[in-house]
Amino acid sequence: MAIEHGREASEAQIAVHWREEEYVRPPARFVGQANLADPTVLERFSEKNFPECFREYADMLHWDRYWHTTLDTSRPPFWKWFAGGKLNACYNCVDRHLAKHRNKAALIFVPEPEDEPIYAVTYQELFTRVNEVAAILRDFCGLSAGDRVTIHMPMIPELPITMLACARLGIIHSVVFGGFSGEAAGRRAADSGSRVMIYADGYYRNGKPIDHKASADIALDVAEKEGTKVERVLVWRRHHGQYLSSTAMVAGRDYFIDELVRQFARAKVDPLPMDAEAPLFLMYTSGTTGKPKGCQHRTGGYMAYVTGTSRYYQDIHPEDVYWCMADIGWITGHSYIVYGPLSLGATSVLYEGVPTCPDAGRPWRIAERLDVNIFHTSPTAIRMLRKAGPNEPKKYNYQFKHMTTVGEPIEPEAWRWYHEVVGKSEAVIVDTWWQTENGGFLCTTIPALHPMKPGSAGPGALGIYPIIYDEMSREIPAGSGKAGNICIRNPWPGIMQTIWGDDDRFVKQYYSKYCRNANSQDWRDWPYFAADGAVLPSDGYFRILGRVDDVINVAGHRLGTKELESACLTVPDVAEAAVVPVVDEIKGRVPAVYVSLKPGVSDGQRVSEQVIGTIEAIIGKIARPKAVYVVPDLPKTRSGKIMRRVLAAISNAMDTGDVTTLANPEIVEEIRLQVQGKEPVALKEGPEDVKQFGAVE
Ligand code: WT7
Repeated sequence: MAIEHGREASEAQIAVHWREEEYVRPPARFVGQANLADPTVLERFSEKNFPECFREYADMLHWDRYWHTTLDTSRPPFWKWFAGGKLNACYNCVDRHLAKHRNKAALIFVPEPEDEPIYAVTYQELFTRVNEVAAILRDFCGLSAGDRVTIHMPMIPELPITMLACARLGIIHSVVFGGFSGEAAGRRAADSGSRVMIYADGYYRNGKPIDHKASADIALDVAEKEGTKVERVLVWRRHHGQYLSSTAMVAGRDYFIDELVRQFARAKVDPLPMDAEAPLFLMYTSGTTGKPKGCQHRTGGYMAYVTGTSRYYQDIHPEDVYWCMADIGWITGHSYIVYGPLSLGATSVLYEGVPTCPDAGRPWRIAERLDVNIFHTSPTAIRMLRKAGPNEPKKYNYQFKHMTTVGEPIEPEAWRWYHEVVGKSEAVIVDTWWQTENGGFLCTTIPALHPMKPGSAGPGALGIYPIIYDEMSREIPAGSGKAGNICIRNPWPGIMQTIWGDDDRFVKQYYSKYCRNANSQDWRDWPYFAADGAVLPSDGYFRILGRVDDVINVAGHRLGTKELESACLTVPDVAEAAVVPVVDEIKGRVPAVYVSLKPGVSDGQRVSEQVIGTIEAIIGKIARPKAVYVVPDLPKTRSGKIMRRVLAAISNAMDTGDVTTLANPEIVEEIRLQVQGKEPVALKEGPEDVKQFGAVE
């Protein structure tokens, strides 16, 4: 690719100062047993073998009908993978393992209350339970292939059971993270047009039972206001036969699944061979606008990608005990708790609760007790466990061979604690960079073949060719020390198909920015824009700097600032609102809210409480802001745009830059005093994503 030099530098090209970290070699013991230690794989997945290289992943699946075209590029960027093929995701995760592994644990459920017994669900039991639920969905709810079902459930085995039951029939599931509010679930249910919602009555979180069914009533009201009538609510009880919620079951609408199951006991439902391109599920995520987008994932490509990457990058063998501590309500859980590991016939551990409940030794007790040897979590959890119990791992006799970090950039300091203390210097680590949209890993080291570098994700995954572009579509070459927008030059099987019901937004969001020729059917003209900043040293290890759009990554979860701002604006006394990221020691980033009040309103304290309450109700507790500042006015350009960048600088003790061209420059100092106090604060340089925040208004 031609690299043009000498043009003026754009904002995205700000030089990034970064101390290069030393490589850490994978332990010989790991390499000796790894699924992928043959370096010829790099050649097999090199660009000249694209797209056929992905046959290797697809061949790990059972196909009811083999495909004829690996990649169909006739309608870019709506790629088709394994076109002509038919398969069933549930069959691949359950039925095909019965002959050899029916008596093996598919799932091991660890309840949060430590005195409640852990139990395993074998593949045979999973098969039986999935069939019963599939029968309920088909025969009691009248659902069939292509229908959508919204599942708003916590981390209990009934969640993957319900997902797999949907997949068995080609019903498109849309799982909403249990920690989202009923209102958030209702809006997502309406967007997807779900006639059925599936709930759990309650669960345990941080030592307390949570009444989750209460959210269902709110969700249904909200969905109805948005034009979707949810006809049925199926409710799993956390303790069979005992109701954890205090909200009434609505006759003719709400049904306990554990009661329905009795009518459908021993029912068998044949897995439906689905077109490789049939949607498997939707996963809503935040973007630049206020409306969450339903990332639509296909059956064939997605299953191939998560199966292949689980084998090669998670290094899952039949005898391993694998534990990913994410929530199934996020893409990590879909791909790397449910579909990837179960497709490989692995044992996947499911933990209900908070990692530090009742204390910071809990994860390591679980690891010891179950003899977990593959562990997968986020930098936020690592930072939290390190702070709360830096020496806890040493007290427990477990041994990880492999660990993953995912969801946010990890500081080299936290990485080293993970490596030395949690991994006892004997586990290999993969830092996997990817997104809800991507289905599976995009940048990561191959655990037995590449050395690790603390704080860097690594090279593109097999068959993934990343590139960094500046704002003018020029490649930023490796080793230049400049940051830019990381893109993927090629399609891959795990990429989403579209945004549910909004093809235009899909094209605009991910492809318009760097598309070279909108009429071209050549995939080379359609780089995928990830909306993350990155730098690339000459060794080819990408270091991800964070979002370049209006998305804040809170504890590895994406929050759209526009979504938060719209929530604030529903408070009647709020005139204007701006949300910015604040650096947080544990969670990475947290939102801070700035609001101005309508004329005549003076009770700022009451309004800030209302703002917090409203955000929790509309989005969920995960979006709770770190601070709400009621200010006389927001800094604005002469054309009236709110300067979020200036507010982000104030909230993070960074230089606000030149503000003299603003319409109301005096407000900047006033807000600064309010936020930082009278004492001068030492200015910080601030991380790249905060520096860039709001740069593109
Ligand atoms: C955003 C995607 C898919 C994993 C769960 C998050 C950030 C993700 C890393 C990493 C640095 C990372 C990016 C990305 N991110 N993994 N290893 N290093 N940053 O999925 O909610 O769709 O968020 O998370 O900013 O764009 P998500």
